[in-house]
Amino acid sequence: MVKVRSVFRCSECGGTSPKWAGRCPTCGEWNTLAEEIDAPDVSPVRLAGVGGGPRDTPIPIAEVDTSTCAAMPTGIDEVDRVLSGGLVPGSVTLVGGEPGIGKSTLLLQVVDALAARGARALYISAEESKQQVRLRADRLGTLRPHVYLAAENAIPHIVTHIDTVAPDVVVIDSIQTVFEPQIASAPGSVTQVRESAARLVHEAKTREVAVILVGHVTKEGNLAGPRVLEHVVDTVLSFDGDRHHGLRLLRAVKHRFGSTDELGLFEMSEAGLVAVPDPSALFLADRRRGVPGSAVVPTIEGHRPLLVELQALVNATQIPTPRRSAQGVDGGRLSLLTAVLDRRVGLSVAGFDVYALAVGGVRVIEPAADLALCLAIASSCTDVALPPTMVACGEVGLGGEIRQVGQLDRRLNEAARLGFTQALVPLLAPEPPPGIEAIRVATLADAVQRLGIT
Ligand code: TYD
Ligand code: MG
Repeated sequence: MVKVRSVFRCSECGGTSPKWAGRCPTCGEWNTLAEEIDAPDVSPVRLAGVGGGPRDTPIPIAEVDTSTCAAMPTGIDEVDRVLSGGLVPGSVTLVGGEPGIGKSTLLLQVVDALAARGARALYISAEESKQQVRLRADRLGTLRPHVYLAAENAIPHIVTHIDTVAPDVVVIDSIQTVFEPQIASAPGSVTQVRESAARLVHEAKTREVAVILVGHVTKEGNLAGPRVLEHVVDTVLSFDGDRHHGLRLLRAVKHRFGSTDELGLFEMSEAGLVAVPDPSALFLADRRRGVPGSAVVPTIEGHRPLLVELQALVNATQIPTPRRSAQGVDGGRLSLLTAVLDRRVGLSVAGFDVYALAVGGVRVIEPAADLALCLAIASSCTDVALPPTMVACGEVGLGGEIRQVGQLDRRLNEAARLGFTQALVPLLAPEPPPGIEAIRVATLADAVQRLGIT
């Protein structure tokens, strides 16, 4: 009898270890190793690929026909923007996001919009029953005749359905719940996810059908994360946002057919996801003016300028090691900036908890937000509010100097559009647009002095 051996595989990087360990020996992530049967590494897809000689003939690069790569617009502007035009036939797109964030909702709306433009769509629901999906479609008002629905998990059956329906687009919801029966590992395991995806990639390429894979990402990483699929697919989209806020952000993390700079913004409503036409106005809607600890930064997300309120709360601590809590801003950056405030401005937060937050469930990680974050902290420390019609934009160096940021004109135009009249900017910043008065500062100490928050 053949002895079944097992191996421990990391759900993040796919690396293996013969023994269980708390930490993956390959990538160093914690709690990501899961036991799998050690099957010989010959996948049916790979075997199919080698028979019958080469599958391509070299031709001069200029003679390569690109007409088949024309993207088909989905008809949902926010999605098309992120995809640089739409879905490319024969491409594979992975949409990753936490459970409950709205991936199924988004993709149901995408196939509906595509069907409205005459495409045939096949939605494979490997998690929910057909009834559940239909009920959701009822609620969304997306019941188009050319959207076909099947509740299926096994890859060979899914391929049969693709044959029957001959769709232009196939959605697999989700890649973690489908399986290739020839692979011994359980659905959701790294091997299974990778092989199932490889098979679907193969089908997409040979049939010129656009395939969208849904992938759950959990903070714990105990399901095979989309990271193991990133190199197999053409496009990786991340769909995130704060589950408690209605706002959802769609970004391209990898895109073989266009840029990865674009951002799509949605709000989750009763009737599904709706585009957010004026995100800055939405982010600032509930802002209370004249409250200490608040600063507004004009950030650039993708190619879009976006005004975001940063808040800080500095509070006497009750514990030996004060808390540094960051939500929507980078925790490491927060520590660094509190150190700069201490050394270069003489504003110490030792003995205080510091909470920092980007309002609205967005993430503001660009260094251009440093100045606003420092001012929010200083403002909370001193209980002096910043001018309500001022934005702040600049990178803070370890010497306390304020450094230039890119695309300042676009940032300040957006600020002007929303009624801001002053901008705290680096010393050598270009002329501000009409309606904005520039307050130029060389250092963080300067800035704090100028605003009287010492
Ligand atoms: P879902 O698309 O099922 O998330 P995922 O596929 O990423 O797990 O949507 C999850 C949440 O969205 C669910 O908790 C309910 C909410 N929702 C709405 O608020 N409005 C709607 O119209 C729909 C369909 C869902
Ligand atoms: Mg779902």
